[in-house]
Amino acid sequence: MALRSRILGCGAYLPSRVVSNAELSTRVDTTDEWIVQRTGIRQRHVAADGELTSDLAVAAARGALAAGGVSADALDLIVLATTTPDHTFPATATKVQAALGMTGGAAFDVQAVCAGFIFALAVADNFLRLGQARKALVIGAETFSRLLDWNDRGTCVLFGDGAGAVLLGAEEAADNKARGILSTHLHTDGRTYDLLYVDGGPSSTGQVGKVRMDGQGVFRHAVGKLAAAVDEALAANGLVASDVDWLVPHQANQRIIDGMARKLGLGPERVVSTVARHANTSAASIPLALAEAAGDGRLKPGQIVLMEGIGGGLAWGSCLARW
Ligand code: UT7
Repeated sequence: MALRSRILGCGAYLPSRVVSNAELSTRVDTTDEWIVQRTGIRQRHVAADGELTSDLAVAAARGALAAGGVSADALDLIVLATTTPDHTFPATATKVQAALGMTGGAAFDVQAVCAGFIFALAVADNFLRLGQARKALVIGAETFSRLLDWNDRGTCVLFGDGAGAVLLGAEEAADNKARGILSTHLHTDGRTYDLLYVDGGPSSTGQVGKVRMDGQGVFRHAVGKLAAAVDEALAANGLVASDVDWLVPHQANQRIIDGMARKLGLGPERVVSTVARHANTSAASIPLALAEAAGDGRLKPGQIVLMEGIGGGLAWGSCLARW
C-alpha cells in the first residue's frame, strides 16, 4: 500500500496590531476606496517591534500540534516557508524546532515567496510518501512588513504579517478515496525574476532591501499560470473542476481569487477568502486560510480541497487534497 500525507491539524497566528486602510492613507497617497476596489483588502496585521517570524511560526505550529493531538517529540520534520527569516542563517526552522522542544529529525526553510507554502507542502509530502519522515509540520510564516518601503503606495498597502501551519502524518492509503494530499505541482520561471523582488540581499548589496513589484506585470501572469497549474492537478487525479469542494487560494488580490473561481465555475460560497482581513501574508496566506476554514467547520472530512498560489520568481503551484 502506498503512503499518503494526511493533514492532522491546522494552526494560525496573527499579530495583535491591526492597521486599517484609513491609517495607511495618512502615511501615503492612497484611499480606502482604491485599496478595496483594486484588491479587496481592508486591513492587515503587523508584527510588534521585537516580534519575529519565528515567534509567529511557533505560535501557529503549537496550534497545529494541539489540533492534531501530537506532541513535538513525535515530529521528525519541519519545513518552514518564509521570505523573512529571523537571520540570514541559520534556518528559522531550527529556531522553531528548539522552541517546540523537538530534538530529533530535521528542520529547514524553503524560499518560494508567496508560493512558499505550496513548495514546502510538496517537499514534506514527498518525504512522508517515501517513508523518510512520519510526522511533519509545514509552516508558512512571514513578517513581510519588515520588507516594505512604507513610502511606496504601490506595495505597502498590499501585505501583512502572520503565520499558519499544518501537521502532516504519513498513513497507508488503501485506495484513491483515502484522505490526504493527492498531488502537488510546482513551477518557476526565472525569466520573470525582476517582476517582483527585494532590492537587497547578502550577496548583492549586503543590506536587507525592500520589495519592488511590477504589479500589473505579475497580475498579467497570475490567472493564466494558476489556471494551468490547477488543470494539471485535476488531470493528474482524474478529477474535473466540479469535483472541487473548496478553493483555498493564495490571498494576494480578491480580483485574482475571483478570476480563478470563475475559471473553475465555483461560487463564492466555495472559496475561502481572508484577503480582506489579512491582506497578502505571502507564504502564510494559504495555511492561515486553511486554519480558519478548518476551525469553523467549513472543511469537512472527505471533501476535495484545491490550493494554489503564485509569487516572486515567478514561482507558482497547486495542491489537491482530500480533507
Ligand atoms: O502575492 C504576490 C503576487 N503579487 C500579486 O499577485 C500582485 C498582482 N498585482 C495586483 O494585485 C495589482 O496589479 C495591484 C493591486 C498591485 C495594482 O492594481 P492595478 O489595478 O494593476 O493598478 P495599477 O498598478 O495599474 O495602478 C493604477 C493606478 C496608477 O495610477 P495612474 O498611473 O493610472 O495615474 C497607480 O499609480 O493606481 C495608482 N496606484 C494607487 N493609487 C492609490 C497604485 N497604488 C495605489 C494606491 N493608492 N495604493
